Parts: sequence; structure tokens; C-alpha cells
Amino acid sequence: MAKGNTHGLDCLFLCFCLFGLFSVPVKAALKKYQFDIQVKNVSRLCHAKPIVTVNGMFPGPTIYAREGDRVLVNVTNYARYNMSIHWHGLKQYRNGWADGPAYITQCPIKTGKSYTYDFNITGQRGTLWWHAHIFWLRATVYGAIVILPKQGTLFPFPQPYREANILLGEWWNNDVEDVVKQGNKLGLPPNTSDAHTINGKPGPLSPCSEKHTFALEVEQGKTYLLRIINAALNDELFFAIAEHNMTVVEIDAVYTKPFTTQAILIAPGQTTNVLVQTNQAPGRYFMAARPFMDAPLSIDNKSAMAILQYKGIPNSVIPILPQIPAPDDTEFALTYNSKLRSLNSPAFPATVPLKVDRHLFYTIGLGINQCLTCLNGTRLTASLNNITFVMPRIGLLQAHYYNIKGVFTTDFPDRPPMPFNYTGAPLTANLGTTLGTRVSKIAFNSSVELILQDTNLLTVESHPFHLHGYNFFVVGSGIGNFDPKSDRAKFNLVDPPERNTVGVPTGGWAAIRFRADNPGVWFMHCHLELHTGWGLKTAFVVENGKGRDQSISPPPKDLPPC
Ligand SMILES: *[C@@H]1O[C@H](CO)[C@@H](O)[C@H](O)[C@H]1NC(C)=O
Ligand SMILES: *[C@@H]1O[C@H](CO)[C@@H](O)[C@H](O)[C@H]1NC(C)=O
Ligand SMILES: *[C@@H]1O[C@H](CO)[C@@H](O)[C@H](O)[C@H]1NC(C)=O
Ligand SMILES: *[C@@H]1O[C@H](CO)[C@@H](O)[C@H](O)[C@H]1NC(C)=O
Ligand SMILES: *[C@@H]1O[C@H](CO)[C@@H](O)[C@H](O)[C@H]1NC(C)=O
Ligand SMILES: *[C@@H]1O[C@H](CO)[C@@H](O)[C@H](O)[C@H]1NC(C)=O
Ligand SMILES: *[C@@H]1O[C@H](CO)[C@@H](O)[C@H](O)[C@H]1NC(C)=O
Ligand SMILES: *[C@@H]1O[C@H](CO)[C@@H](O)[C@H](O)[C@H]1NC(C)=O
Ligand SMILES: *[C@@H]1O[C@H](CO)[C@@H](O)[C@H](O)[C@H]1NC(C)=O
Ligand SMILES: *[C@@H]1O[C@H](CO)[C@@H](O)[C@H](O)[C@H]1NC(C)=O
Ligand SMILES: *[C@@H]1O[C@H](CO)[C@@H](O)[C@H](O)[C@H]1NC(C)=O
Repeated sequence: MAKGNTHGLDCLFLCFCLFGLFSVPVKAALKKYQFDIQVKNVSRLCHAKPIVTVNGMFPGPTIYAREGDRVLVNVTNYARYNMSIHWHGLKQYRNGWADGPAYITQCPIKTGKSYTYDFNITGQRGTLWWHAHIFWLRATVYGAIVILPKQGTLFPFPQPYREANILLGEWWNNDVEDVVKQGNKLGLPPNTSDAHTINGKPGPLSPCSEKHTFALEVEQGKTYLLRIINAALNDELFFAIAEHNMTVVEIDAVYTKPFTTQAILIAPGQTTNVLVQTNQAPGRYFMAARPFMDAPLSIDNKSAMAILQYKGIPNSVIPILPQIPAPDDTEFALTYNSKLRSLNSPAFPATVPLKVDRHLFYTIGLGINQCLTCLNGTRLTASLNNITFVMPRIGLLQAHYYNIKGVFTTDFPDRPPMPFNYTGAPLTANLGTTLGTRVSKIAFNSSVELILQDTNLLTVESHPFHLHGYNFFVVGSGIGNFDPKSDRAKFNLVDPPERNTVGVPTGGWAAIRFRADNPGVWFMHCHLELHTGWGLKTAFVVENGKGRDQSISPPPKDLPPC
């Protein structure tokens, strides 16, 4: 059994891999991984506090597979924390048991126990990632998933010479669970992070020493594929490389129409593949990541830095700094997102639902609820259609599958209780929200349109929404209140970006469409962990179809009990 990494890429400094792109087709393979959840000291970072890791690695091991493979990951929990792992962006057809969000599709893996996630990778290829899906533990428990095209299949863009994973993260100098606990006690946002990281390292701008800098060695005159993942908990990030443009070719494991840009914008949960030409004078060039925030909120605005280093250039050469959009560059963000388009080729068509069976309109709001255990008797909270989601005590999928009553209700409203001027003047009065474990029931194979509308309840803010079990098409987005007549007329139903996480613009809206052909219980939530914890989440119960292979598969025998 491969321990963590089958390609011997467990290197600290340079990670390259070259795959046999021209070999003969073979049958789908079985890939096995062992993930040991362990608490380890990661001394190369700013402090000596132990962190939760997989196999002692930070970031964790990369899962390598090909489209069509079956993957088994035996997760064994040696830590004192409950654990569950989510395979972010994998569709898990009929197989919610392997999806991973704690108390949604499974109970956590307790200390000393194991659970084997068993899934097929069907109809997907590209970059995804895995992460802990319980409380804030994903701060240190995450890694890349690289799905290569089927054996003998080329990328639909120039074949890169080499490739590398770039994982952007967010780092606290304290145990993240303590950070969250302190926030919850106050009823306020917890401390913002202390650093951002690139492949687990903050770079020379952080108070830590320069040796904690990731460097990628490149040869001049080649094309490199970077698989960029935003694993940060709460920050949307810009990423740029000094003097090197990037060509975006894929987002969330879906090919795009290529376009060239000096910087990318990437929200927590999202992935972006770019091609980089090493066509500059041999030297050292900084790669940088820093947050995008265009709402009046305080964040950790520190940059993480890494180095693109041409072969043969000594470490004594001072790297060149990149140009990166200003932290509040709304214009860049909107323009960048508007350039994203599905490839929509004969081999990779964009199957956008043209007719909609179910129209949903969800408002995103912040609020203040009573909290008897909080210092001031109140706590900040978040809601969808004015409902703050309450976590159940057993998995929703089990409750649904075994028809256990009293765990959730299926009366989540299709519309907000009261229409109002969502993005008008800030609303500060009457901000309480209703509590409930309420979900929406969706008929099998119906086409769904969901408008996610930001509001000015307390403040406007950008929210990256992630749907489990599906990709969706982002058919439109805009600033202000969604106007059903004029905005729907402008939808892109031809080649909209297809993804699993969409950034709802600050004080704006995003419209997504998907076909509900995957039966199960699928979590949908803001991928800012701060807001998920405050209740900005719900789930879809997608009913079984009548045909063969259209119902939820039976649960695996080792599914963790509650
Ligand atoms: C981590 O390092 C600290 C200080 O060096 C030490 O006291 C502690 O035992 C270490 N913990 C682990 C899990 O290795
Ligand atoms: C998972 O790993 C644990 C710990 O090594 C082992 O005891 C268990 O048998 C493994 N489970 C499977 C299905 O291989
Ligand atoms: C994966 O595919 C194989 C072969 O088609 C099938 O037997 C198995 O049930 C599938 N596993 C899951 C978890 O869907
Ligand atoms: C939060 O930040 C404050 C001020 O820097 C610090 O005193 C406190 O210890 C931090 N709390 C945690 C849980 O890290
Ligand atoms: C508690 O309320 C006081 C007065 O409104 C305010 O100044 C303080 O910041 C609040 N503290 C917390 C922790 O909410
Ligand atoms: C990057 O793209 C910009 C805009 O298209 C262009 O002006 C610039 O010359 C390009 N830079 C490099 C290094 O190719
Ligand atoms: C980052 O935040 C600090 C403190 O809030 C502020 O002084 C600084 O100007 C900010 N930097 C940028 C680049 O916005
Ligand atoms: C909503 O509020 C904005 C800002 O205050 C205002 O410009 C707009 O006219 C309002 N819209 C409606 C329909 O009242
Ligand atoms: C949300 O629900 C609470 C409790 O029912 C109510 O007090 C509040 O007015 C509602 N807010 C909105 C914006 O609908
Ligand atoms: C789902 O609906 C679409 C459009 O009506 C249809 O083409 C497709 O065959 C249906 N799929 C299933 C599994 O019923
Ligand atoms: C771990 O999960 C179990 C099952 O849900 C729960 O009973 C227990 O309280 C949890 N333990 C901790 C430390 O959260």
C-alpha cells in the first residue's frame, strides 16, 4: 500500500512529475492510499505548536489518479480530534458515503478508528483537493488531488514540459480550535490568521526566516502547468508571478477557453490550472498570494511569497517582486471572473440546462442572535433565507437513507420570507435569524436554477459558495439586486464556467444551474469557514430515480457510527 504518495514526490523543495502521456490505453486502475491523522510539530513554521497532519506532512500527500480509476483511502485517526475528510469537487455519484462532511454524510472518525473512503473517479479530470471537513481542522489538514486524463489522452492545450502543485493556505500561530473557541465565547469573529502560505511556507516577508520559502526550479524556454488550489479558510486570494503571465486553462477540474492574465483570483475551495512560459531572463522571480477584500472588514492582508527559480541561478540573487492587484480591486475581480468560459468543445461540451424545473432564490445574510454563554449575551450569526443552519447529531444522509425521523425537515424555503432591498442601505435593526436543520428536497434529474443573493444585513461581503456532489454552471452574476427580467435575459447558456465553488460578488448575486441527477444528501455552504461555522449552509436531499443505478448505493460496512 502506497504511503501517501505513489510518485515519490514527497520532496520538500521541488516537486515535478512527468507522466507517460503517450503510452497505450490500460484498464482503470485501483489506487490505494493510507492517511494517518497525526499531531506533529512542523518546526519549519513560525512556532513549535503541534498541528494536525496527514502522515506528518504539511500540506498533506497528493492523491494521483486517472479519470476512471477507483481510489481507496484508509483514514486512520491517531489524533484526539474527531476527523472526516472531504474530496472536494469529486461528484461521488450515488456515493455520498464517501463525500465526507461531518454530520452531513457521515459521523466523524473517532480517535483510534479507521474509515476507508472508496470512490470511482468518473467523467472528471483535472485538479481538485481534499481537506478535513469538521470544524476548522482543514487549516492544516489538506492536500491536492491530481486526476490525469485517461491513459493515451492529451490535454486540450499545449502539453506542458513539467507540472507542479501550488497550495495556498492560511496559518495561525495557535491551535485553530482554540482560536475558534475564543471567537465563539466572545460571539465575535475569532483572530484573523497570522500568515498566508504557499505549499505550507509563508516566505521571506513573514517574521519566520527565509528558509521557510517554497522554491520551484524551472528550465528556461519551457511550458509549465501549475495546479493552484486555494486551501485558505477565510480569504479569497490573488496570485501572480513576477514578469510571467499565466494562461488559465482549467478551473475546478473543468477545461476553460484559454486566456492570459497577469494575476488570477481564487476563492477558498476553488482550483485553477495555468500554463506558464519560462521565457524570461534566467533569474529568481517571486510568486505571491495575498487577499482580495472589497468590503470594510479587517482581514489578514499579509502576502505569502514563493520563488520561481531558473536553473543554475544562485540563491544569493534577489528575486523580482510581482505586480498584484490592490486588496480592494473590485474591477479586477469582476473582469477576471467574466473571462472564465467553459471550453465547450465536442469532447467537453457544456451541458447547461436550458429549461428550469425548479427556481430557487437564496439570500445570504449576517445577523446577531441571543447567546446566553457569550460574553455580551449575543453572537454574530449567518443565514440563508434568514435560516441559520443547526448541525444535526447524526449524519443527514443516514437519517435520509434509513428514514430516521426528527433529524431534519425538508421545508427550506425556495425564497426569502420577505423581499427587501437586499443590497440597499445597510440594515442593522431586527437582525435575528431563525434556527433550524432545514433542507430542500429536489426531484431526481430535475434542472435547478439557484440565485445566490448577497445582502447588506450588517455588511455586504463576497461569499464563495460550494455545492457537494455536483458541478454547476455559473450562468450569470452581477452587482446589486438580481432582476429576474433583465438579468435572466443576459444569462450565458452557451459556454458559462462550470465549477463546484462560485464567488458571489460583494453586494451582488450569482446564478447557477445544475441537473439534479446524483441522488443523496448534498451539503451547500459558504466556503469561508468563519461563515460555515456561523450557519451559512444548508443541504439538498436529491431523491432517488426510478431506474436502475438511480438510487443511493448501500452504505459501506465500516461507515463510522455516531
Ligand atoms: C513539539 O515540540 C514541543 C517543544 O519543542 C515539545 O514539547 C512537544 O513534546 C512536541 N510535540 C510533539 C507531538 O512532538
Ligand atoms: C486501515 O488502517 C488501519 C491502521 O493501519 C488498519 O488497522 C486497518 O485494517 C486498515 N483498514 C483497511 C480496510 O485496510
Ligand atoms: C466503482 O466502479 C466499479 C466498477 O464499475 C463498481 O463495481 C463499484 O461499485 C463502483 N464503486 C462505487 C463506490 O461507486
Ligand atoms: C488572539 O489575538 C490576541 C491579540 O493578539 C491574543 O492576545 C490572543 O491570545 C489570541 N487568541 C488566540 C486564541 O490565539
Ligand atoms: C460588548 O458590548 C460592549 C458595549 O456595547 C462593546 O463595547 C464590546 O465591544 C462588546 N464586546 C463583545 C465581546 O461583544
Ligand atoms: C503579459 O501580458 C500583458 C498584457 O497582455 C503584456 O502587456 C505583457 O507584455 C505580458 N508580459 C509578458 C512577460 O509576457
Ligand atoms: C494591511 O493591514 C494593516 C493593518 O490593518 C494596514 O496598516 C496596512 O496598510 C494594510 N496593507 C495593505 C497592503 O492593505
Ligand atoms: C435600494 O437601495 C439603493 C441604495 O440605497 C437605492 O439606490 C435603490 O433605489 C433602492 N432600490 C429600491 C428598489 O428601493
Ligand atoms: C429573520 O427571522 C427573525 C426571527 O424570526 C426575525 O426576527 C427577523 O425579522 C427576520 N429577518 C429577516 C431579514 O427576514
Ligand atoms: C435527465 O433529463 C435529461 C433531460 O430531460 C435527459 O436527457 C436525461 O436522459 C435524464 N437522465 C436520466 C438519468 O433520467
Ligand atoms: C466525536 O464524535 C462523537 C460522535 O459524533 C461525539 O459523540 C463526541 O462528542 C465527539 N468528540 C469530540 C471531542 O468532539
